[in-house]
Amino acid sequence: MTDLCPAVRTVADLRAHVKAWRADGLKVGLVPTMGALHHGHLSLVEAIAEKVDRVVVSIFVNPTQFGEGEDFDAYPRTEETDRTKLAGTPASLVFAPNGAEMYPAGFASNISVSGISDRFEGAARPGHFDGVATVVTKLLLQCLPDVAIFGEKDYQQLAVIRRFATDLDIPVEIMAGTLIRENDGLAASSRNAYLNPQEREIAGQFNVILKQLVSDAEKGMALRKTEAKATDALLAAGFKAVDYVSIVDADTLEPLETLSGPARVLAVARIGSVRLLDNMAIGA
Ligand code: PAF
Repeated sequence: MTDLCPAVRTVADLRAHVKAWRADGLKVGLVPTMGALHHGHLSLVEAIAEKVDRVVVSIFVNPTQFGEGEDFDAYPRTEETDRTKLAGTPASLVFAPNGAEMYPAGFASNISVSGISDRFEGAARPGHFDGVATVVTKLLLQCLPDVAIFGEKDYQQLAVIRRFATDLDIPVEIMAGTLIRENDGLAASSRNAYLNPQEREIAGQFNVILKQLVSDAEKGMALRKTEAKATDALLAAGFKAVDYVSIVDADTLEPLETLSGPARVLAVARIGSVRLLDNMAIGA
């Protein structure tokens, strides 16, 4: 029989485990996911396990962060495979609630983070970050971990979560998981599987072009010029469209005119029907 990471489905059961660990003086970490785990997720489990004694992985496909016409129904639900993968990692427990456990009848609350949620992915997917902020707030309060980890791949999501965790005094350390890349540097994502071989080859240029932007910006080229140059290079490489290439303050995500502190380039480009996200530190 294949090993499965143990799972609980209710907040009460999750809290009973966490309470028992705390009674033994153990530190607890939380890795929120929507399942369909790939090596990027597993790297988050490994990274947080360096800091805590017990790791909880939540698996919940959160309906409130999907917009109309987005793929909530089609989103892969692969709990058994996910739990098999987790059995080979330091994860101690899966928390896999159903919709009614997370959003019981009468649920009427919403966490909304203004400013930082509005641009980029927030503009492309109205309501998305409210859904993320609401479910992550619930997961943090349900588990009350010492540390929770979120991948840098979704950099704006990480910034939104850091903002509300601070604003709402949620007693948790928010840890950033390093962006995992494939051999050619393409950011790891479940969406990469949708690319045909020719598109996959083009996709490998994304990080090369962003690295050039980082180098141009660090050498003093005007930031708007580096963004325009990268956009042209992406289109010339075969990307169908570029949603944005923007150099922003690493914390507030406000677009920058000049480099004066930690900055980040955020970019989304499309190939075929696939929307690829990437981001890189500038001046780090
Ligand atoms: O990044 C994700 O997988 C989701 O947005 C998260 C943080 C698990 C919230 O549903």
